[in-house]
Amino acid sequence: MNNESQTDHPETNGRSQLSDNMTDQNNHKTCRVLVTGATGQLGRSLAACCPPDFDYVGLTRQDLDLGDLSTLQTKLQAKIEAVQPSFILNTAAYTAVDQAESEVEQAWCVNGVAPGLVAAVAARYQIPILHYSTDYVFDGQKSDPYTEADPTNPLSVYGRSKLAGEYAVTAGNDLSLILRTSWVFSQYGHNFLKTMLRLGAERDTLAVVSDQVGAPTSAHWLAQTTYAMLRTLRDSQLPTQYAGLYHMTAGGHTSWHGYAQYLLTQAQEMGFELRVPIDQVLMQTSAQYPTPAARPLMGRLDTTRLQTAFGIEPEHWQTGVQDVLMRLQKCEF
Ligand SMILES: NC(=O)c1ccc[n+]([C@@H]2O[C@H](COP(=O)([O-])OP(=O)(O)OC[C@H]3O[C@@H](n4cnc5c(N)ncnc54)[C@H](OP(=O)(O)O)[C@@H]3O)[C@@H](O)[C@H]2O)c1
Repeated sequence: MNNESQTDHPETNGRSQLSDNMTDQNNHKTCRVLVTGATGQLGRSLAACCPPDFDYVGLTRQDLDLGDLSTLQTKLQAKIEAVQPSFILNTAAYTAVDQAESEVEQAWCVNGVAPGLVAAVAARYQIPILHYSTDYVFDGQKSDPYTEADPTNPLSVYGRSKLAGEYAVTAGNDLSLILRTSWVFSQYGHNFLKTMLRLGAERDTLAVVSDQVGAPTSAHWLAQTTYAMLRTLRDSQLPTQYAGLYHMTAGGHTSWHGYAQYLLTQAQEMGFELRVPIDQVLMQTSAQYPTPAARPLMGRLDTTRLQTAFGIEPEHWQTGVQDVLMRLQKCEF
C-alpha cells in the first residue's frame, strides 16, 4: 500500500471490512491488529507491509491521545469493542529525545504512564500487547551487546520514561511483549538517514558523531518481523510462553559516522544529488557535539533471545539502508 492511501485512511489499510471469519489462502483466520502511532515510522511501515492474513487498523493521535490520561481508557475500550483486535501494537511514543529534557511531564505521560493503561485495558479483553522500547534504557558503559538480563540505567528523560513504560506494560498485561529496538529509520517522517541526505545535498562538509555505536534498524524490517512474531503467537497453543522482553535490532553495528558514510556512499552510487564529498564526512566526538539529552556510547543489543524464540534472523543494517534508499528513489512514501 502506498503512503497516500494511508494518509487518506489512517484508520485502515483497506482490509478492515473483512469479517472475523474470513480466511486467507492457507485457511488462517484473518487476524486483526490495532496499532497506535499510525502516523509514525513504524506505524506506517506496519500498514505498508501488512500481509494478507492480517488486518491492520491504525489509530492516530486524534483517535487516541496518549497524552490525555482522562479519556484514554474509555476511548481505547470503545475502539477495542468496535474493532475486535487479536493484538494491540503500541508504536506511539514521545520520541523527541532532546525535547523530552524540557517536556518531562509530556514525555513521562506518553511513554511512561499511558502504555500501562493501554496494556491494562487490553488485558481486560485478554488481548496481548506488543510494546516497543529502546536501547536508551541502558547507559552504554558495557563493551559487549546488552542482553535482556542486563541492568538498565537510562541517561535521559526519554530513556527513563521508556523504561517506566516497560514496567507499566509488564505489570498491566501478562500477555505483553516488550520489544527494544534502536536507531529506527524509514522512508517516512524524520530520521537520521533522511537528515543526512538533506544535509549532504546542501553542504560541502559534514561532521558526524563517531563515538556512539549501535544498530540502525529499518522500520520495514521491524514491521515484517512483528508480523512473523504475531504468526507464531497466533498459531501457538500457549502464547503466554512468549510474553516478556526481547531485543529486536538489525544485524551488525556501526557509529553514526559509519552509518552516514555508508548511506551517503550508497546514495551517491544510486544517483542521488549530493554536494558533500565522502571524504568530507568528518568524525566528531559526542563531547564536540553536546545535546540536551545524553546518549549511550554503546547501544548494541543482543538479539539471541528473539532468534531462539521466534526463529528470526535479523537483516544486516546495510540491507535496510539500501532498501530505504531505493524506496526514496522510487518515491515510495
Ligand atoms: N525512532 C527511533 O530511532 C527509535 C529508536 C528506538 C526505539 N524507538 C521506539 O520505537 C517505537 C516507534 O518509533 P517511531 O520511530 O515509529 O516513532 P515516530 O516516527 O516518532 O512516531 C511516533 C508516533 O507516536 C505518535 N504519538 C506521539 N505522541 C502521541 C500521543 N500523545 N498520543 C498518540 N500518539 C502519539 C506520533 O503521532 P504524531 O504524528 O501525531 O506526532 C507518531 O505516530 C517507539 O516506541 C519508539 O520509542 C524508536
